[in-house]
Amino acid sequence: MHETPELPDGLIRSLRDARRIFVLTGAGVSAESGIPTFREAQTGLWEQYDPLKLATPDAFQEDPALVWRWYRWRRDLVADATPNPGHTALAELEDRVEQFTLVTQNVDGLHAKAGSKNLVEFHGNLFSEHCFRCGRPGNAGDEVLPSCDRCDGLLRPGVVWFGEAIPDDASQRAAAAAETCDLMLCIGTSSSVFPAAALTDVAHQVGAVTVEINPEPTRGPLFDYVLPYPSGLILPKLVASLSP
Ligand code: OAD
Repeated sequence: MHETPELPDGLIRSLRDARRIFVLTGAGVSAESGIPTFREAQTGLWEQYDPLKLATPDAFQEDPALVWRWYRWRRDLVADATPNPGHTALAELEDRVEQFTLVTQNVDGLHAKAGSKNLVEFHGNLFSEHCFRCGRPGNAGDEVLPSCDRCDGLLRPGVVWFGEAIPDDASQRAAAAAETCDLMLCIGTSSSVFPAAALTDVAHQVGAVTVEINPEPTRGPLFDYVLPYPSGLILPKLVASLSP
């Protein structure tokens, strides 16, 4: 079990002085809600499946029923999950700073459930769907092959697949947050998927104080502070340190 972490004084001062906080989260922030991350051995989602055979437009065109089966399995995995203290702490942090943007790579909806408001779901959301042909939002219900009620095309899960661009609105909001922040928290991500991971480089380049929270630190030199602790343990302490 992790010992209770002490926060560096410099970090506490920077947190108290911060006016524009940008947060980037990955699957690690939901690990303590019981949702497997992608790349961790044994527990990783990808130990059982090859995502490149499932999370791509080609895979969907080739076998839409198989892709829907995988996403319904992932929805079931997430459906009963609840926000953990890390999610809740981020929602509280948002209420205590002037400007706050949370960009998440996660599609599990837990940040919204925890009350985060200025939220960018960079890779979409597992529980939304839209037409693969015309893009119109739809409602898949329990159909094995749900179709669009406007053009009769196939509905697809509302997540970003490999080889697909990040939707413009999400991309622009995330870039603006990274370019204007004075403090950035990079939490629970292997920083291995772009363009999400590039947002950390932007925050670093504009001179923000950069902080990584991850038991397995990733891109050391990019961060002013590295806190090798579970997010559910350290984030509540971070937020509590705001009050002198
Ligand atoms: P990964 O599974 O690649 O990385 C999860 C990270 O969380 C790892 O670095 C772990 O060390 C860390 N971690 C595990 N438990 C943690 C905890 N309790 N607190 C903090 N950190 C913890 O997941 P992502 O980086 O989110 O994209 O993956 C990025 C993208 O790759 C996903 O959004 C997905 C996938 O392709 C798409 O599906 C488009």
